[in-house]
Amino acid sequence: MVDRPRCVTGIELLDKELTGGIPLGSTVLIAGGSGVGKTTLSMEFLVNGTKFGEKGVFFTATETVTKLKKYLRNYDFFDERLIKSGEISIIDLWSISDRLGLNPEHYSLEEANILFEVIRDIAKELDAKRLIIDSITSLCYRLQSPEMIRDFIFKLGTSLASMYCTNILTSEVPPKSFQYSQYGIEEFIADGIIFLGDIERRGDLIRTFQVIKLRGTAHSRTKFAMTMSSKNGVQLSPMLKSNI
Ligand SMILES: Nc1ncnc2c1ncn2[C@@H]1O[C@H](COP(=O)(O)OP(=O)(O)OP(=O)(O)O)[C@@H](O)[C@H]1O
Ligand SMILES: [Mg+2]
Repeated sequence: MVDRPRCVTGIELLDKELTGGIPLGSTVLIAGGSGVGKTTLSMEFLVNGTKFGEKGVFFTATETVTKLKKYLRNYDFFDERLIKSGEISIIDLWSISDRLGLNPEHYSLEEANILFEVIRDIAKELDAKRLIIDSITSLCYRLQSPEMIRDFIFKLGTSLASMYCTNILTSEVPPKSFQYSQYGIEEFIADGIIFLGDIERRGDLIRTFQVIKLRGTAHSRTKFAMTMSSKNGVQLSPMLKSNI
């Protein structure tokens, strides 16, 4: 069997779980409730890529670039020089949309296509090998129908895969939801789903991390404990001793 080339996430246990990383060119949904670590994990994935000379682009659609940078400065893994050098670009998706004169509430099919082409062209121009949209949920609010959501994510995934660019789309889901995406469509189009959750234990909330699906690779569906700290960023550890 010929193994597909991998995109190394730099998150130690995850790369081990995925026998080297995410299959190159995949589109992976990082789904979870509010504050579970979707933005932090996505940014650490981009930063880790720069260690292999892979450029990254982060489209923010939930918070401003200024606020995002201020928040990221709390983490040792984040180095602002990566932005100055152009290894990482952080772009406000709504500023682009406004500059293009697109309707701020709902996109027509033509407007959705314009935005898709601009995202693709930016990734191409920057020669990005890792791309984040944070969050795909807020973008989906502007796409008017399930068909438009399906079409947008599918086209984005296939065109970026042809540029060997691996993509993460963050997906906001309410707690205890039985879906991994707001519209129930995003999760079927994506090649992979990573679910970040919370478990309450003795009055404390433990962060959890689980690969739900990932096309093109073997993986376990083991639930890991996830910690986030300024010094070490995102770290995974087994929940059960039997998983060690
Ligand atoms: N320096 C830090 N060290 C450890 N944890 C932190 C630090 N700064 C913030 N946090 C935790 O990270 C959480 C936010 O993480 P993040 O923004 O990545 O989550 P998110 O899933 O993207 O949230 P949202 O749903 O609001 O977009 C905070 O609620 C807080 O618990
Ligand atoms: Mg976030």
